[in-house]
Amino acid sequence: MSVSHYRVHGQIAVIAMNHPPVNGLGLALRRALLDGLDRAEADPAVRAIVLIGTDKVFSAGADIHEFNSPLMRAEPTLHTLIDAIERGTKPVIAAIAGACMGGGLELALGCHFRIARADAQIALPEVKLGLLPGAGGTQRLPRAVGVETALNLIVSGATVPAQQLSQTALFDALVADDLASGALAFAEKILAEGIALKRIRDLPCTHPDAEAYFQFARHHVRSSAGAFPAPLKCIDAVAAAVTSPTFDAGLAAEREAFAYLVQTPESKALRHVFFAERAVTKIPDVPEDTPTRPIKTAAVIGAGTMGGGIAMTFANAGIPVSVLEIKAEALERGLATIRKNYESQVKKGKLGADALAARMALIQPTLDYAHIRDADIVIEAVFEDMDVKKAVFEKLDAVMKPGAILATNTSTLDVNRIAAFTTRPEDVVGTHFFSPANVMRLLEIVRGEKTAKDVLATVMKLAKTLKKLPVVAGVCDGFIGNRMIHRYSAEAMRMLLEGALPQQIDQAIERWGMAMGPFRMSDLAGNDVGWLIRKRHYAERPQMPRAVIADRLCERGRFGQKTGKGWYAYRTGDRTAYPDPEVEQLIVDARREAGIAPRRIDDGEIVERLIYALVNEGARILEEGIALRASDIDMVYLNGYGFPLHRGGPMFYADTVGLYTVARRMRAFARQPGADAAFWTPAPLLERLAAEGKTFN
Ligand code: 3HC
Ligand code: NAI
Repeated sequence: MSVSHYRVHGQIAVIAMNHPPVNGLGLALRRALLDGLDRAEADPAVRAIVLIGTDKVFSAGADIHEFNSPLMRAEPTLHTLIDAIERGTKPVIAAIAGACMGGGLELALGCHFRIARADAQIALPEVKLGLLPGAGGTQRLPRAVGVETALNLIVSGATVPAQQLSQTALFDALVADDLASGALAFAEKILAEGIALKRIRDLPCTHPDAEAYFQFARHHVRSSAGAFPAPLKCIDAVAAAVTSPTFDAGLAAEREAFAYLVQTPESKALRHVFFAERAVTKIPDVPEDTPTRPIKTAAVIGAGTMGGGIAMTFANAGIPVSVLEIKAEALERGLATIRKNYESQVKKGKLGADALAARMALIQPTLDYAHIRDADIVIEAVFEDMDVKKAVFEKLDAVMKPGAILATNTSTLDVNRIAAFTTRPEDVVGTHFFSPANVMRLLEIVRGEKTAKDVLATVMKLAKTLKKLPVVAGVCDGFIGNRMIHRYSAEAMRMLLEGALPQQIDQAIERWGMAMGPFRMSDLAGNDVGWLIRKRHYAERPQMPRAVIADRLCERGRFGQKTGKGWYAYRTGDRTAYPDPEVEQLIVDARREAGIAPRRIDDGEIVERLIYALVNEGARILEEGIALRASDIDMVYLNGYGFPLHRGGPMFYADTVGLYTVARRMRAFARQPGADAAFWTPAPLLERLAAEGKTFN
């Protein structure tokens, strides 16, 4: 199929881009556009050229796939194309509807005139990919809309409707409806009126107080840019538009910055995330057109920490939700907590008072199953205890209407067993929310052996409505995220025995980029949560080694922030984690009892051992088919566990280190005195990929 069409209407040539899904400006489209332009230039009957996209998209910019290949530099590059348009002798009019982003907007900026539908979506979102606009956007946009507006758009990557920029030189006209006819009429008009070609490059680019303004902008952006170099480079490039002696000198500065950014690990990570986020919804045996069940009402069983947050999530999406509890006091407590959460959002100005009332009205408390029987989906969030789950699912099976989806929020239990408590296991699925459920974006969707395809398709779609990122996981203890974090925590514990302290481990991994170290995280989540799970594991596998230090901590009631003491000590009203000599003594005693002579473990080793513990388990999860793809694991860690975005997720990070190196380091850890050799044996998939010089992603 041709990626563009060329048609002549009287004295006007129309070049229409038609390269689904988003008119990405890959080599094929660039060539087709330049061919069209040359053809129009060569045809004496043609006096003006209209460049148009589809109804939904003008162009979403450069083809992001090409950034990892030589195609990006293959001629004609975007620069060559834009330059050819701008230097052309016949007026080129960009006619814009839908998304006009990145290189797509830069292409339009190279045209002599631009008209748009008022609702067209305009953005230079390159910064979100760790880049800057590299095809003249940092030089032309400030000339078209002013330095400050341009800088804001470029540094934020925000999308704005064309209407918002209608008073600037970016647009010559906005059209209400039929863009194609509007574009032809506009072309006729400029021909009839003999309007000269307008080149944005010829416009001045000034700011009354440039030096102070850019200094202010840098100061402001530096603190929020974190590990990402792109935002500051964006400012440098816009500053170059003002300070460079010529337009071309500014363009050269932009080009150099783009060439630098495109090869940074931060940009590679963000590009990985861009595609990974879009891949999660693709389930090989569940086609995108699988019919889904309507979800108009929901119910949640249990109004505790998770049940309350899940109910809020539905209410926030405008879906009426019943909350069922076993006891009236628990129900009242749960509802009061929900109200308090909403009230605190109102206090912070994040929610209007009307919205609070509307959301609370969507949440219906009940103690009676009869009230929830017609719900389209019910999510169970009761205690993590198989007997309690069994009682609840038997009841749900008895009362819920046929076709209702029966979901469990269990974090570790066997979803297949839970499904077997019902006579309709095909309607049962795991929906594993993360705490706080109304805030965290991640939602692990646990696919049971018998979960029906339309149930899976429905919850994937529902996740989008709830503004969650769904990642499909198979059934195993802990699914993707918790199964991996279990290994990570176990390794952190082992390092305590070997000589590190909680604060050293937390600081090392937080400096590396994790939002929170394992001990601070455990204190926040509640150390009793892991203790309960460990006790179940000890009962199931009596031979398994004990987590002596963590168990003793819990035996002393040190459950974390909620009890004022955990791995650290806390002061009332203060979430700061203070190292506690009592914990250090506990660790020293455990080392002595185990006959371990402590050694100094450097921060580099701490980071490697924690991250590679995740990676090794991730490789097993991948090989077992628990995760569909390595990038799904990355999505789990980025959206549910505070993994640093600039490192792209554990599997992507391992790829960037090189799997050969990762496997080699694991073997070295296995050889250390007292090490658990089995723990550090590289997973077969990791070994294989490392040997073949391949990557996970
Ligand atoms: N390159 C390659 N593929 C792209 C793409 C791009 N620029 N933009 C979108 N796609 C792909 C997506 O991966 C997806 O593919 P899939 O169907 O195989 O999963 C498909 O197009 C549809 O994308 P979405 O699912 O995101 O569709 P939506 O309708 O929700 O959103 C959109 C459309 C608003 C255009 C959104 O895709 C978007 O924001 N795209 C990215 C825009 C962008 O970042 N542009 C800058 C590119 S860098 C650049 O131009 C550099 C230049 O300055 C030199
Ligand atoms: P919680 O203890 O805060 O709340 C559980 C609620 O269920 C209580 O209010 C209790 O009264 C109610 N309940 C108990 N038995 C019931 C029954 N038979 N019928 C109706 N209500 C009943 O527990 P939490 O933390 O909300 O956990 C709930 C589930 O979510 C568990 O399976 C847990 O593993 C899982 N989970 C917990 C996460 C967390 O961070 N707390 C994260 C993800 C999942």
